[in-house]
Amino acid sequence: MYEVIKYGNEILREKAVTVTDINDDIRETLNEMVKTMIEYNGVGLAAPQVGINKRMFVCMVGEDTIKKIINPTIIPEDYETIEYEEGCLSIPGVYKNVKRFKKITLLYQDENGKNIKTHLEGFKAVVVQHENDHLDGILFVDKISPVAKRMIKKKLALLKKVAIKEDGDASGERFR
Ligand code: NI
Repeated sequence: MYEVIKYGNEILREKAVTVTDINDDIRETLNEMVKTMIEYNGVGLAAPQVGINKRMFVCMVGEDTIKKIINPTIIPEDYETIEYEEGCLSIPGVYKNVKRFKKITLLYQDENGKNIKTHLEGFKAVVVQHENDHLDGILFVDKISPVAKRMIKKKLALLKKVAIKEDGDASGERFR
């Protein structure tokens, strides 16, 4: 089990690096990430959210289907978009609509290093785009409307304050 890093910690803003060696350590980390996601009732969890600066995430795609995604690339299939109310384990208590691509092709490596290409649409495509954003230091609150942004300004400021308090300089060194 990991602790989920919250909004305000600069670790969430870093660009994650490619996983070059898919080994037992990586598989063990992914298993622990799945446990953490389930414990927190999330539908997705990216490695940077638990202080691991690697391009990988876990997510629920369907009732009992958990996917472990390593080194993903997302290719939108057309310009059609879809809007869902999103939340994030790193930003507790905040839920806002985000517009994303409706249909995507996802290229990734599984936990055995096998290259996989899959088509996703609707909610599944949304979850994968949200998690993939974490790997580039992007959070869903970066993508909401200016009005929605104003509405959650105070909440975010409070989260940031707590993060700095917990962590001294909010650099999150202790998680590395
Ligand atoms: Ni998230």
